[in-house]
Amino acid sequence: MTTVPPLYYNNDPHSFGFATARSRWPSILDSVIKDVEATMVDSNSRTEVSQGKEIVQDITRLKEAIMKNGEIGSFAKPDIPGLQSYDDTLETLGAITWLTGPWLFCECYLYRRIDAYFKSRSEWVEFDPFESKKETAFRSSGPGIIELCLRYKKMSLSLAKQQNEGSITIDRLRVIFEELIDVSLWGNAIDLSLLANATLEDLQSRQGAEAIAKASKNVLCNDLPLAWNRLLSVPIEKRRVDFVLDNAGFELFTDIVLSLFLLDSKLTKKVVFHCKTRPWMVSDTMIKDYDVFFHEILHAFSGSNDERKYLVDRLHDYKASGKFQLVDSEFWTVDLDYWHLSPEETKYGGADLCNHFQDSALVIVKGDLNYRKLTGDRKWPRDVPFTTAIGKLAHSGIHILALRTCKADVCAGLPVGKDEELCDYWRSQGNKYGELWCSSGKWAVISYSSGEN
Ligand code: F6P
Ligand code: MG
Repeated sequence: MTTVPPLYYNNDPHSFGFATARSRWPSILDSVIKDVEATMVDSNSRTEVSQGKEIVQDITRLKEAIMKNGEIGSFAKPDIPGLQSYDDTLETLGAITWLTGPWLFCECYLYRRIDAYFKSRSEWVEFDPFESKKETAFRSSGPGIIELCLRYKKMSLSLAKQQNEGSITIDRLRVIFEELIDVSLWGNAIDLSLLANATLEDLQSRQGAEAIAKASKNVLCNDLPLAWNRLLSVPIEKRRVDFVLDNAGFELFTDIVLSLFLLDSKLTKKVVFHCKTRPWMVSDTMIKDYDVFFHEILHAFSGSNDERKYLVDRLHDYKASGKFQLVDSEFWTVDLDYWHLSPEETKYGGADLCNHFQDSALVIVKGDLNYRKLTGDRKWPRDVPFTTAIGKLAHSGIHILALRTCKADVCAGLPVGKDEELCDYWRSQGNKYGELWCSSGKWAVISYSSGEN
């Protein structure tokens, strides 16, 4: 029996949780306040304005509580779905404070706390305090997006030609698959919660073919061949690929291009995107973000009109025919790690998802936060197998492919000695704590579990 290690905590200076709680969360809260205030200025509704003022007060108090290391209280809001999961955990944890509590719990709780302020004000229920951030980032990703539109059209036409001629080989498809997996992986390199302390130029510098090719040398373990074999082993009429999505904007776009390829090439019959039901970790995708994206891709940029229209038309057709689908579930934003994707979790949707994933050829789990939830955000030695770090999921029957750029402490599946080597390297670059290489977003892991261990 493997012993499950302890969690990462916010009072550990060796953890990225330390800086996150002290500096990133306060600045994220400042940006929420700004957005609420900007919306109030444009509002004609007195109720909306007075409720907006209350929200600003609530968020200001929340920021103070974090900075003063206040205690985290229960929600006691039975009418908002999923909050009970947080209250239940708090009961088992006992008294915890913002700057000393378990990082993952506190972070998820923070986003639910923000969301609860809006959900309990009639005029603000639908408000997404991160929408303008997502929108600005999407627009500033124009160069990367146009580049990919051009690549996609070229690839899709040449694929169709080779299919007609019967000259397409499985090897050729594998090469494109690997390339687009890389694009989708590095599409995750910057999320907007990190942009709190970085710039939009930073974001652009990590997009585009050249940047992605350079970064792919930094993939520390790569189980992609296993995932590819799994995909091909499922009879084509049953081949469905699921994506547990992460961020809207450029990353969502890369996931869409990968999906279009899977469908165009007939490697897959159907693709399902799993979205969040509420604003989450700043940039995560909700179904309405996809709708905005779909509109913006045609209208927010100039140039390469044909290529953009080509992509949007294909996407539209796949969606209309049911081959491309978007769904959401409360499960992704409750306080449960993904070990609860199991038949026993009947309260928040874990059992339904587990059941749905049983007949998926591949469940592609994107990004850092999803990876933390797969591994329980625990202090696994970084060379334990991925299938150890995901606990029960390793024998859940779910075929998981995690594509994750490392932006937090937890990591598994590295070759023996790699962590020590990177810790030394990171220290040699003038960083105080070597372990924090793993939160820099410069390295990545591609990990697979067959669900049959
Ligand atoms: O660790 C950095 C961080 O922003 C965390 O706060 C959060 O877990 C995560 O990364 C969000 O990143 P992603 O969008 O890749 O899940
Ligand atoms: Mg995210």
